[in-house]
This record gives sequence, structure tokens and C-alpha cells, in this order.
Amino acid sequence: MLLSLSLFASLLMPVTGETILGVTVYSRHGDRSSKHYSGYGLTNLGLQQNFRVGADYRDLYISSDSSKQILGISEDKFVASQLYASAPDQSVLLNTATAFLQGLYPPLDGLDTSIASQTLNNGSDYKSPLNGYQYVTLHGEEEESPDTIWIKGDDSCPSYTEAAATFEHSVEYQETMASTRDFYAQFWPMLEDVYDYTRDDLTYANAYDIFDLINVASIHNASFAPNVTDEQLFQLRTLANSAEFAENFNVTQPARSIGGQTVLSAILTQLNETVASQGKRKFSLLAGSYDTMLAVFGVTELISLSHDFYGLPEYASTMAFEILTEENTTSFPEDEESLRVRFLFRNGSDAGAPLTAFPLFGRDEVVLSWRDFVAEMQKRAVTSVEDWCKVCRSTQDFCSLLTRDDEAVGVDTSKSGGAISNAVAGVIGAVVTLAVVGVIGGVAWFVLRRKRAAVSRDMQTATLNVAEKGSLSSGSTR
Ligand SMILES: *[C@@H]1O[C@H](CO)[C@@H](O)[C@H](O)[C@H]1NC(C)=O
Ligand SMILES: *[C@@H]1O[C@H](CO)[C@@H](O)[C@H](O)[C@H]1NC(C)=O
Ligand SMILES: *[C@@H]1O[C@H](CO)[C@@H](O)[C@H](O)[C@H]1NC(C)=O
Ligand SMILES: *[C@@H]1O[C@H](CO)[C@@H](O)[C@H](O)[C@H]1NC(C)=O
Ligand SMILES: *[C@@H]1O[C@H](CO)[C@@H](O)[C@H](O)[C@H]1NC(C)=O
Ligand SMILES: *[C@@H]1O[C@H](CO)[C@@H](O)[C@H](O)[C@H]1NC(C)=O
Ligand SMILES: *[C@@H]1O[C@H](CO)[C@@H](O)[C@H](O)[C@H]1NC(C)=O
Repeated sequence: MLLSLSLFASLLMPVTGETILGVTVYSRHGDRSSKHYSGYGLTNLGLQQNFRVGADYRDLYISSDSSKQILGISEDKFVASQLYASAPDQSVLLNTATAFLQGLYPPLDGLDTSIASQTLNNGSDYKSPLNGYQYVTLHGEEEESPDTIWIKGDDSCPSYTEAAATFEHSVEYQETMASTRDFYAQFWPMLEDVYDYTRDDLTYANAYDIFDLINVASIHNASFAPNVTDEQLFQLRTLANSAEFAENFNVTQPARSIGGQTVLSAILTQLNETVASQGKRKFSLLAGSYDTMLAVFGVTELISLSHDFYGLPEYASTMAFEILTEENTTSFPEDEESLRVRFLFRNGSDAGAPLTAFPLFGRDEVVLSWRDFVAEMQKRAVTSVEDWCKVCRSTQDFCSLLTRDDEAVGVDTSKSGGAISNAVAGVIGAVVTLAVVGVIGGVAWFVLRRKRAAVSRDMQTATLNVAEKGSLSSGSTR
């Protein structure tokens, strides 16, 4: 009783005197065409959803009208040192981040025409194109770069693929498979046009794919929409929820939630950047998939709060982590002891969908001390590329290099290649250090790229094969 009261109070009472120091946001993409077809992409509706969510985050954390304005953040003009944004090199997720950022920092003309213009010596005024459009920097994470693991830690990870696949041997799966045969079979008239579908494909084994095809069609296809009832759509969604959640979290098989474990590390890195820079970094954005969110819900024990966390988050859903201090201050706190963290979740982009605070890690408090938060995150996160390579048994080029060089260094540095070994040792050191700081990890990538000449052709072929086999997750935007 006391607990729920205090929880309630901390959620609803206006927090007097608190100061927000930084925010890290993880966003799902908005409405898109079905990912069953290659070349799928965000729709206009989807772009609007991500844009609106970005604009709402602007109203909450950047506008001077907001009591939660981040300390010292530039209100109208984007300042590069204050913001970091990153997405995997996939059009849906890159564009998700772009649309969000367009809402976060819209064209300057609409905000403040005086700062929209630059005046040349000869007196001419220039604005950037599109009414003072703001070109916010977005970092794309290339599929073969070690940095790709932070947002998409389940891709190219054989341990994940195997662990997720064992779901098919579970009693739940077998039972659901049997009990839903007739339910799925009834959708054949709607799906017979799907080029690679046969009647046999209409089972629980394709729960997400079938839900995705029908859900997308029900939103975009007028000839289709009247044929599927809300009740059927709800059933399809519920079944997809159970399959996707099971594949991305099970306490008995940590490898299923590897994507959640690496993204926790990415989030911690971003928040720590705010702390380490004494508040210079103020806002970070990561764009990713629903499966990673489900893994996070499991790993951070949000599922112990409500069954809702077992469900697929809506399009354009966001998780936000605030760094704050409970004091009303105009400067970044000297003492780390006064730093706090709060987690919030917004299910979708509708005006009615609130950004709500939830306690993490099975604890009662919604606001944790920075120190506690870091400890809880580190218990659950995979924080180095090397650890990821080991856990995943991945054959990514960068993993092959790390493992191979590991052995070389471990056995005898002087014997196994002289100058090359020293260089290699340097690379390992650089990778391990830089990987933790995801922001500058790109440097390691560059170094590794140059080392790739040393990787045999066989190794590259093996990597490709594994990537293809890992079709549960590889290269797909959920
Ligand atoms: C915080 O302090 C400023 C002045 O330093 C004051 O204007 C503002 O009302 C205070 N806010 C709260 C919530 O106490
Ligand atoms: C001012 O300089 C810019 C760039 O050299 C040129 O394009 C523009 O025509 C000049 N304006 C005038 C009024 O001369
Ligand atoms: C929807 O139902 C109508 C009437 O039964 C049928 O003619 C049409 O082909 C159906 N469309 C789809 C996409 O299933
Ligand atoms: C709508 O669905 C029908 C039936 O599946 C399909 O034949 C048609 O191509 C779809 N239309 C669009 C615009 O996707
Ligand atoms: C989690 O794993 C256990 C042990 O393999 C299994 O009994 C259980 O059914 C699994 N739960 C889900 C939801 O997959
Ligand atoms: C935060 O960053 C500092 C400086 O880079 C580093 O020394 C520290 O270990 C980091 N802490 C965490 C929790 O990542
Ligand atoms: C988000 O919304 C979906 C669809 O309504 C629902 O299934 C899911 O449980 C919701 N998640 C949370 C955390 O509220």
C-alpha cells in the first residue's frame, strides 16, 4: 500500500525544483510497408508519426516553456556538441531518426528568422534551403562495423539465432501451433496473392509475418480492410506478441535477449557521456527495432510490472532515460552523488499516448541514483565488442580479428609476427577501449577496415553464410 502510494505520488505530483540534465531516447520506426517484401520503407504516415514524436520530445525537453527543459540546451538552433543520433544503416531506421530529428529541431524560419540568416560581407543574407532546414548529424552504423552490435546486437549472432529457434521445441509453441491451425487457415483468401506463400505457411510459425502482412494491408489497402475484423487483427497481434516475446527473452536463455543487453550498454554510454562531459552532451537518439525493445523489457524486469510489456510496442514507440538532479540548479552538479535517472515509455505516437515513468530492475523507485542505475545496467549489459563476439560465437570479420589476435598475443607476441603483432595488440587495445565509447568506435572500424586485407577469403565467405542463415534476424527491420 505504502509502496504503491509513493509510486503513484512520484508519477503524478509536479516535481518541484528538479532539473533535467540530459535525455537518451530509443525509438521504434513509424508505420511502414510490410517487411515481407524487400525494399519496404516508411510510409508518409510513418514519417509523420516519427516526426510528431520528435516534436513532442521538443515540447517536453527543449522548449523554454517546459518545466522539463534540459539544462542549457539550445532551444532553436541545433548545436552539434549537445546532440548525438545514431541508427543502423537501413533506410527505415535512418529515416526514422531523420524524421524524429526534424521534429526535434525544425526549420529555423518557423522558430526565429533572425538566427535563420547569415549575412555575408557584401550584405547579402543567406538561409539554408527549405526555410532554414537544420541539418542534424546522424551516424549510420554499417552492418560490418563493430559498432553495429550496439543497436542490433541480435543480427549476425548465431547464439541468438539458435536460442530463439529453440522456442519451436517448447510445449507452449507446440500447443499454440496446434490450437491455431484453423484460425490461421481462414486467412488464405487474403494472403494467396503473397508471391511466396502456400497454404502450409499459414501457421503460428509465421505469426509475426502474417500479422505484419495483414496489419499493413488493413491500414493501407481499401479492398482488404473490410475483410479483416478488429477481433481477428487483435488475435493475430496477440499471437505475434507471444512468439516474438518468447524469441527475444527467456530467463533460461540469455542469448535470446542479446539485442537488449547490447542496447542497454549503448544507452549507458550515451547517459555517461552527459555525466562525463559535465552536461555538454544533452540529448541522444537511437533508432531501432521492436524486438530489441521486447528484449529490454525482459532484461530490465519491466515485465514484472505489467503484462503489457509482453506486447509488441506500437509504431514510433519510445523509451526515454532522463538524467536529472532533484535540485533546482543552473549549473551541472559537481557531485555525482546528486545525479538521478528515470525511465519513461511511450507506446506509439497518438496524442493520447502518454510518456509514462516506470521503475526498472524490479525495484520500487521510479527515480534511481546514478550509481545504482549504473550498477544495475552493468549487471545486465554486454559492454564490449569482445564479449559480444564470444557470447554470440560470431564470425563477423571484426570478431575473427579479435579472437585470432587474442590468441596471437596470448601465446607469444614476439614470436608470432614481430612488428605486426605489436600493431595488432594496439588494435585490440584500441578496439576494447573505443568499443565502450560507441561514439568514437568508428575510428576502430577504420583501423579494422585496413586490417581486413589480412582476413582470408574463406573467413569472409563463412561470415556471409552465417549472416544468411541467421534469417530470423539478419538485416531485418522489425
Ligand atoms: C527554480 O529557480 C528559478 C530561479 O533560480 C525560479 O525562477 C524557478 O521558479 C525555480 N523553480 C522551481 C520549480 O522551484
Ligand atoms: C554577395 O556574394 C555572394 C557570394 O559571392 C554572391 O553570390 C552574391 O551575388 C553577392 N551579392 C551581391 C548583392 O553582390
Ligand atoms: C474481400 O471480400 C470480398 C467479398 O467477399 C471479396 O470479393 C474480396 O476479394 C476480398 N478481398 C480480399 C483482399 O480478401
Ligand atoms: C490490396 O490487396 C489485394 C489483395 O491481396 C491485392 O491484390 C492488391 O494488390 C492490394 N493493393 C495494394 C495497393 O496493395
Ligand atoms: C523459457 O524456457 C523454458 C526452458 O526452456 C521453457 O520451459 C519455457 O517454455 C520458455 N518460455 C517461453 C515463453 O518460451
Ligand atoms: C563514463 O565515462 C568515463 C570517461 O570516459 C569513464 O571513465 C567511465 O568508466 C564511464 N562510466 C561508465 C559507467 O561507462
Ligand atoms: C502497447 O500497445 C500494444 C497495442 O495496443 C499493446 O499490445 C502493448 O501491450 C502495449 N505495451 C505497453 C507497454 O503498454
